[in-house]
Amino acid sequence: MSITLAFDVYGTLIDTQGVLTALETVVAGDATTFSNTWREKQLEYTFRRGLMQHYVDFATCTRQALDYTCAFYGEELSAQQKKLLLNSYQTLPAFDDVQEGLARLKKKNATLYAFSNGSKQAVEQLLDNAGIGHFFAGVVSCNEIQSFKPNPAVYSYFLRQASSYNNATWLISSNPFDVIGAISSGWRAAWLQRSTAAVFDPWDIPPTATVSSLIGLCEVLD
Ligand code: LAC
Repeated sequence: MSITLAFDVYGTLIDTQGVLTALETVVAGDATTFSNTWREKQLEYTFRRGLMQHYVDFATCTRQALDYTCAFYGEELSAQQKKLLLNSYQTLPAFDDVQEGLARLKKKNATLYAFSNGSKQAVEQLLDNAGIGHFFAGVVSCNEIQSFKPNPAVYSYFLRQASSYNNATWLISSNPFDVIGAISSGWRAAWLQRSTAAVFDPWDIPPTATVSSLIGLCEVLD
């Protein structure tokens, strides 16, 4: 049976901590703490926007989360410095296992898609810049239906776009909320545990598989 693999992008394929290098040049406080708050606030904004049905695109959530984080830590960044940080968000690197993992997965009877909250244009640019765009049959963006993960509508939208169906589709994501969203929509889903400190939400909705790298995922799918 041919399967469809839908890869989450930010934090799964692409390392959002890549922004640290730029952050270290502009913030006075701890760059890792700043980066974690920025990422958490960015996701919180997508959840709240989704609940309120007051959509703005993912780039706007990222920008507004940056403004929040600066205010929260009392970091007074110039417009130029914020632009530098937001630009670095468009050129983030892939995690180390991604090239080899995607190359191995592509050799299986599988069709690979990127599936993200980010706009199609931003994600295509990001993947190409990281040298991994060619692995994918396409990018499916939640932006196209003006919503965010984990709204069930975005998982249905993906299936329509990829001409796939529930039990032939796997989500691969480091984000527990995304994995739970996909499982709740009837998909299979692998949690890519990018850090040993990461905790999966105890909702009694476990992932189909837990892996620590894309190489590990190849073994699960064998
Ligand atoms: C994405 C976010 C959730 O790429 O990481 O969709």
